[in-house]
Order: sequence, then C-alpha cells, then structure tokens
Amino acid sequence: HGPETVSPTGQPTGAEQARMAQSGAYLTTAQGARLHDTDHSLKAGPRGPVLLQDHHLREKITHFDHERIPERVVHARGAAAHGVFRGYGTAAKLSKAAFLAKDVETPVFVRFSTVLGSRGSADTVRDTRGFATKFYTEEGIFDLVGNNIPVFFIQDAIKFPDIIHAGKPHPDREIPQAQSAHDTFWDFVTLHTEATHHTLWNMSDRGIPRSYRMMEGFGVHTFRLVDAAGATTLVKFHWKPKLGVHSLVWEEAQIAAGVDPDFHRRDLADAIEAGAFPQWELGVQVFPDTEDQMFEGIDLLDATKIVPEELAPVQPIGLMTLNANPSNYFAETEQVAFHLGNLVPGIDVTNDPLLQGRLFSYLDTQLSRLGGPNFSQLPINRTHAPVNDMLRDGMHQTAVHRGVAPYRPNSLDGGCPFLAGEDTSAFIEAPAAVAASRKVRENPASFDDHYSQPRQFWLSMTPVEREHIIAAYTFELGKCYEQAIKERALTVLARIDTQLCEEVAAGLGLPAPGPDAGLTDPQPSPALSQLGQVWPLD
Ligand code: HEM
Repeated sequence: HGPETVSPTGQPTGAEQARMAQSGAYLTTAQGARLHDTDHSLKAGPRGPVLLQDHHLREKITHFDHERIPERVVHARGAAAHGVFRGYGTAAKLSKAAFLAKDVETPVFVRFSTVLGSRGSADTVRDTRGFATKFYTEEGIFDLVGNNIPVFFIQDAIKFPDIIHAGKPHPDREIPQAQSAHDTFWDFVTLHTEATHHTLWNMSDRGIPRSYRMMEGFGVHTFRLVDAAGATTLVKFHWKPKLGVHSLVWEEAQIAAGVDPDFHRRDLADAIEAGAFPQWELGVQVFPDTEDQMFEGIDLLDATKIVPEELAPVQPIGLMTLNANPSNYFAETEQVAFHLGNLVPGIDVTNDPLLQGRLFSYLDTQLSRLGGPNFSQLPINRTHAPVNDMLRDGMHQTAVHRGVAPYRPNSLDGGCPFLAGEDTSAFIEAPAAVAASRKVRENPASFDDHYSQPRQFWLSMTPVEREHIIAAYTFELGKCYEQAIKERALTVLARIDTQLCEEVAAGLGLPAPGPDAGLTDPQPSPALSQLGQVWPLD
C-alpha cells in the first residue's frame, strides 16, 4: 500500500475508493445496484409483517448497527487538524532526520484531547490534554505523542492501568465523568506520591487551558537524536504556541462546560476556518548522552521530572502551522493511530520505563480499537513514503499484494524487497549501552525524590496563580467522600508547602498536618539551586 490510488490489479484503493463511494448519480446498495425506495420496508401487504427477504432493509440497518468503533481507552475525546511543519535546520547537526533540515516542509496531522472523559464529555474540564502529532515525512511516519503537561503521574508503565482505573469514573455509579474530583483519583495520587508533581500541574491553571491553540506541548520523555556520523544527544521536545499560554479561570471553565461543551473543538475549527492558523515552534532541550543519563542531578529517565529551562533553554528547531480542518471526523480524528515507535532515522528512544511500556501499549490497543492489523492502510494513517513490506492478509486488508514469496531472500519473485543493508538512510537503532547485571523490578534511587520539583513549581507561581491552585485542591478534594483520603492529601501538600497545605485544610474544614507529617523528604536535586552548562545549537 502507499499513496497510490490504484492497486496492482487496477482496483481503486483507499481515499479514491471513498470518493467513488459517493460518486454515482443514483442512490445504490453497497453493491452498486440502483434503488427505487429507501423509505419503506418490504411488507406482506400495506398492513402486513416485514419480509426477511428485504436485503436493502437489512443491509442499511446492519451497517448502521456497526457504525461505532470502541472509543480510545484514554484520550477518547479529541479534536484534530491538518497542517505543515517547516524545519529551521538548527537541529541538523544533532539529528539526520530529513524533515528537520532547513526549509523542508512536512505535512502533519495533530490531535488534541482530554484524557479521562468519554467521547461525549465536555471540553473544558480540569484534566491533562493530549497533543499528538503525526509527521508524514519522506522517510516514513514520525509520531510525537505528547501532553500539555511536561511530567507524568507515574514512572513505570506497569502502573498505567492502575492510574487510569483510579482516574476513570467509579465502577459502581460511573461518576464523575471527566474530572479528577473523586475518591479513587485522590486515593491513587496520595498513595503513589510520584504523582504529586503532575497532580500539582493539573490543579494549576494548566489544567484548564483557554484554547488548544494556546497550549504548550511536551514530549515528556527524553529522546535520543542521532546525527549522520552516528553521534547521539539526548533531548526533550517542546511545542511553544505563538499565541502564548493562556488558561480559563475555573468559573469560566464550569460555565463553558454547560453552555458549550464543544468549546475547545469549536474554537480550533472556527479559527482555522477563519484563516487564523495556529502555530507552534518545536524546540528541544539538549543534554549530552552520558552513561548515567543525568543532567545537573536530574534523572533524564524519570518522567515525573522536568529540566528547568534556566538550566537547559528550549532551542527552536521548526515551525508548525495548522491550516486545514478534517473533512470527516470518523475517518481522520477517530481513526488516526499514533505510536511512539513510529520513528525515523535520526530519532530514537531511551530506556525511560514509562516510554518503554508505551511502545507496547499503543499498537496493542489499536489492534482492537481499529479492528485488526491493517490500520496503517487507513487513509489518515498512511505514510507518504513508499512501502514495501512483507506483511500480508489479515482483517480489513485492502492492498492486493503481488508475487508468491513474501519472505526474503527469495528466488521466485524476481528478487526480493530491497533491504537497505549498508544504506545509512535506513533506520538503525542507536547502539546505546545496556548496563544490566541482573534482572530487577526496583527503581533507581534517583526516582525517589517526589517533592522538590513540585515545591519548585509552587514557588514559581504568582500570588493569583497560588490562589487558583488552592481553590482547585479545595474544590476537587471537597468532592471526596472518604475523610481519610482528604487527610492523606493534606500530608502530601504539607511536603510541598506549608501555606498551600494550611489554606486547603482551612477550605476543607480540617486541621492542617505539620510539615513533619507524612513521608521523609529526600534531598532536592542539586540542579534546582544552581545553573548548569547550556548546550547551544548554534
Ligand atoms: C493515548 C499521551 C502515557 C497508553 C494517548 C494520546 C496521547 C497520549 C496524546 C492520544 C493519542 C490520540 O490523540 O489518538 C501520553 C503521554 C504519556 C502517556 C504524554 C506519558 C508521558 C501512557 C502510558 C500508557 C499509555 C504509560 C500505557 C502503558 C495509551 C493508550 C492510548 C493512549 C492505550 C489510546 C491509544 C489509541 O487508542 O489509539 N496517550 N500517554 N499512555 N495512551 Fe498515552
């Protein structure tokens, strides 16, 4: 398969077929037979029972009955747009990825989403937002599957089902829909205190963005760039919106959720339709690829930590402009499938245990969500690069493959698919060292500090931002039924800051625990108190 509109046997494929499905002048069955009536069932007389032989009735209703596919298990509600990414060339000395070269233009498709709500939930709830970008590069698809918050709740993907079970509606009453105001959420994040940092970002104004057009995006994990000579560098990806970062206030968010639950998707679609194309600069924080993968005392493999921009500035490497709305929500926004393993030569993964689990999860869930192994043939998921794979058959196969020998080497099909061999334009995994001496299930000690970065975040807030955070914790915790969970949450807040803890406690009508309550406080990372070396791109 590929961008062609005609298969090897001359049959139209993909988008061409979709276009042709609506091309006739007359209403037909799916088989192309002309219909003379689609409003009346075939009956035994005008007042008689309906006949089983009415194939048109059964085709029409059966197809309708199967119109829905399962919604995403997370990030079910989304809105998307097409656009273009133009490389500045500034990353070329770190990565050989062709799409990062100067002035190369690459089509993109971006899907923004909430995480916890179902497909029909409201847009302006307090939640993390997804920011997933598919780059249709000439070297294959590159997916940057990020969020609008630079850290994540957990450090190891094995806890992902647990945090999501805790965040989704309670299994008994299936409430609340799409917000973090409930017992299981607070139970989880106060028992798994590595979630403190992400939760604090959620309770800040970042949890209620004004518009998708005014959100930052973060790759969260540390990635590895590879240059033409094979040298590697570690980076964190950032999207910086040209419109700046703006949030709603809580009252606005609540009113919008009632008055216009489509507030964010409407805003995005209306802006693009009006020609006010939103833009983001893609930037990287750059770190040397050292053996310990630490930077200024911060573990680059710990997804609950940021590297402050004072220590490693975000250096711009390209510009993205979203300039077209999808024409069919189902075909594009619903069927798009992102995957962190969709990499191109010059970009590789690291050993972050959260990232490693994601590499498994997305393909696995898409096999069931999109009905089998051939969803890369759906128009929105198709690469713009030529494809010559040895994958065959399966549910919803639309390619008509030639030849008899889908294996290599073979001596029957006039040779075999060309294998890149020594060709340096192929994707070759960076030969990063793996220093394993034994199998373990434990975390490195550097993952133990759960509080110094939340404290740093809190201290960086202005007075009005602090008021909003206090109000958010008070509102959300106030919805919990279990007193013990509220009390445990206060012991976590006490580890962050006394004022934060005391004011939330007052709002909840509970005594504030002293700063010694809760767990012992590990030493903050040294980087938080000193400036480090900057790794400039130019
Ligand atoms: C979906 C981001 C962690 C499993 C998504 C989407 C985004 C995202 C943006 C929506 C993609 C779309 O619009 O279609 C992130 C980020 C993470 C993270 C930034 C942490 C840094 C995880 C982990 C797992 C996971 C640890 C599982 C181990 C999933 C699944 C989906 C999803 C199953 C649904 C995919 C689909 O149905 O196509 N994630 N996620 N995510 N994520 Fe994550």
